[in-house]
Amino acid sequence: MHSLQCVLQVQRSLRWGPMASVSWLSLRMCMAHSSLSSTTCPNPERQEAGARKDFSSRLATGPTLQHFLRSASAPQEKLSSEVEDPPPYLTMDELLGRQRKVYLETYGCQMNVNDTEIAWSILQKSGYLRTSNLQEADVILLVTCSIREKAEQTIWNRLHQLKALKTRRLRSQVPLRIGILGCMAERLKEEILNREKMVDVLAGPDAYRDLPRLLAVAESGQQAANVLLSLDETYADVMPVQTSPSATSAFVSIMRGCDNMCTYCIVPFTRGRERSRPVASILEEVRKLSEQGLKEVTLLGQNVNSFRDNSEVQFNNAVSTNLSRGFTTNYKTKQGGLRFAHLLDQVSRVDPEMRIRFTSPHPKDFPDEVLQLIHERDNICKQIHLPAQSGSSRVLEAMRRGYSREAYVELVHHIREFIPGVSLSSDFIAGFCGETEEDHIQTVSLLREVQYNMGFLFAYSMRQKTRAYHRLKDDVPEEVKLRRLEELITVFREEATKANQTSVGCTQLVLVEGLSKRSATDLCGRNDGNLKVIFPDAEMEDVNNPGLRVRAQPGDYVLVQITSASSQTLKGHVLCRTTLKDSSTYC
Ligand code: 5AD
Ligand code: SF4
Repeated sequence: MHSLQCVLQVQRSLRWGPMASVSWLSLRMCMAHSSLSSTTCPNPERQEAGARKDFSSRLATGPTLQHFLRSASAPQEKLSSEVEDPPPYLTMDELLGRQRKVYLETYGCQMNVNDTEIAWSILQKSGYLRTSNLQEADVILLVTCSIREKAEQTIWNRLHQLKALKTRRLRSQVPLRIGILGCMAERLKEEILNREKMVDVLAGPDAYRDLPRLLAVAESGQQAANVLLSLDETYADVMPVQTSPSATSAFVSIMRGCDNMCTYCIVPFTRGRERSRPVASILEEVRKLSEQGLKEVTLLGQNVNSFRDNSEVQFNNAVSTNLSRGFTTNYKTKQGGLRFAHLLDQVSRVDPEMRIRFTSPHPKDFPDEVLQLIHERDNICKQIHLPAQSGSSRVLEAMRRGYSREAYVELVHHIREFIPGVSLSSDFIAGFCGETEEDHIQTVSLLREVQYNMGFLFAYSMRQKTRAYHRLKDDVPEEVKLRRLEELITVFREEATKANQTSVGCTQLVLVEGLSKRSATDLCGRNDGNLKVIFPDAEMEDVNNPGLRVRAQPGDYVLVQITSASSQTLKGHVLCRTTLKDSSTYC
């Protein structure tokens, strides 16, 4: 086996369900000359022998097991102002980026977009520079996704391309370092280092604080990995860097991980246990974004509405959780803490001109107080993502989603009663283990019944480690999965077109993002339901400055009269510039 140089790989075993507990599962060190261990697999091409010797001799007097255990179990949220001692085997200087240029590439979900900025914020503080030009990069980091086989294949293909870049590197330059970050690093661990010798660094989703150290190790020609999952890492004190100054919106991560263990899903294994960021630090970030002039924040998390800040002691710790009617959890009901309704209330009060969205929620956590808040606050968007996954109760049970089709449909009706005009979106999986033609027809009928405004539809991809992998059979042939997926897409589009056409003739509040990608004379923005709205760039009145003629700029709110709609876009013409507060709900 190829060695992971100098990195302690401590994995916490995660047991799920009512008696969930944490135990130290394995403790492996792959380090030549370490006081503990074991194997080394020198790779002659990648070594500068002198540097390694020097490095290795420093390691011999380096950290002990106690050092690692201490750092592994130490509380992870530190104040950014705290000065830390470098690990004993690396000098402070070696931990610095020394103006090396980092190129970051993001794959997968919005969590990964946010994680990219967290990783960058940490590296920037260590003296790295960022480049958007791959050719001039000294360090290339891929923030990866494992949710489906195809997502991982994309990364393997990309690594082949990067290999060429690495071998073409001139001797006069510092060697190019390549890192795999995020879910794929966590899922495959050293398998990546074994398969692709050109990968220098692996960092799981909870190990980004360790990136400067991992890169310092890689600098000496060793491969370095940290795939430790944490119970409390939320990067609460790491403010992501807002990279695009013209941006109108930002993501704010509020929780990480997932305790649901849906049988098809790899996420609980790659991102670990559910944990929430303290409310105070979320509010601080939202306030900063508001001061920077941003007009929209999307609260992010794998189960954003299962939010539960337990960081402060409250009185109501015995209050149990209100689940949506007809919904159950795969884990013992949790109690106490500050819940999502509290957070949403607080966040929406920061800036009445700032739109608030959240994704991705779980349908089980929509108590009435959350729905009421969405209904009554002008700046909380009337848009709810309600991932159904299937329209068949039999399949939902096999997926361990904790609800039946009937409970889901009842929730949809309840939401629509509370929030008239709400925009709904969903995720569906075609061809899950054991899905029959009859089950598939049920999913088609759910799409027709609910008539979503947006949808994300996928063919099932069996993932190792999941419950489905161990207990179920991936027995729907590939071509059947794809045929069913096509059918779902067709039905979704027909229904979304109908749903979106109800906006034609209405006036909607649109947050302007900038020029339309398709036409230099059109602008593009989003309505409250998060649908793209395209309209000609024309002069208009500003309602707060009567008589003043203006042109819309990114970050402006404008009223647009909708003239046509498709399954994905609305078109219209602009009426006037306004503010969120001044524009009550139109149509
Ligand atoms: N195969 C296909 N789709 C999946 N999803 C999650 N796991 C899988 C899988 N193994 C989908 C679900 C989830 C979305 C983020 O990805 O629909 O809601
Ligand atoms: Fe995966 Fe289910 Fe958790 Fe979503 S709720 S991340 S689908 S396990």
